[in-house]
Amino acid sequence: MTVGKFITFEGGEGAGKTTQAQLLCKSLETAGVETLLTREPGGTFGAEAIRNLVLEGTADRWSGMTELLLMYAARLDHVEKLIKPALSRGVWVISDRFADSSLAYQGYARGLGPERVQSLHNAVMDNFEPDLTILFDIDPILAQKRVETRGEDMSRFDSESINFHNSLRAAFLKISNENDHRFFNVDAASSRDGVQTRILFALSQKYPELAGKLGSSA
Ligand code: TYD
Repeated sequence: MTVGKFITFEGGEGAGKTTQAQLLCKSLETAGVETLLTREPGGTFGAEAIRNLVLEGTADRWSGMTELLLMYAARLDHVEKLIKPALSRGVWVISDRFADSSLAYQGYARGLGPERVQSLHNAVMDNFEPDLTILFDIDPILAQKRVETRGEDMSRFDSESINFHNSLRAAFLKISNENDHRFFNVDAASSRDGVQTRILFALSQKYPELAGKLGSSA
């Protein structure tokens, strides 16, 4: 049976993940790889409904644990109905965020503790994990400026204090260090082309069969 690869993009707000995920899909398609671009929370009809619940309203709408359970309810639907079926068809799935976001946001930055998040993960997902995770690392002050410049709607997460974003950044770097078999860190402060080049480099290191086929796309 052909099996696709599961690649996730992680990092704080305003790091440029979404644009780069689109660019990577184009590059893979050019190399003849069928891809599916998705996101979390969301990706399926049910999970998108949970996304609206979780992202709307004020920061204190949900307790940390409720938020975590909502994220995992959405994630299970996403994995069962979209991600695993696509992988088993040989499709490469690129997800803008996945379980490392729960560990970083709910486990570390919101203080639930990494062990509780990990045990929920194990209970719900067994040992399902991405084949490759690209971490977009950037100074939160710079990231915040980018979000403002883009004139985007500030979701309740974007209005968190700078301390929150600093602890989030440290959490992602720790998670990356502890899972270096699948993580590749990218300096998200560099130019769009620079970041794209690093991502394509990571892909051709991990999957030598793609080397030379992954031209960058505008
Ligand atoms: P989104 O607007 O998609 O942000 P971004 O473009 O930065 O990915 O909002 C998703 C928000 O949900 C983001 O603030 C991170 C948060 N989140 C969690 O707190 N836990 C999770 O498990 C996931 C997947 C996301």
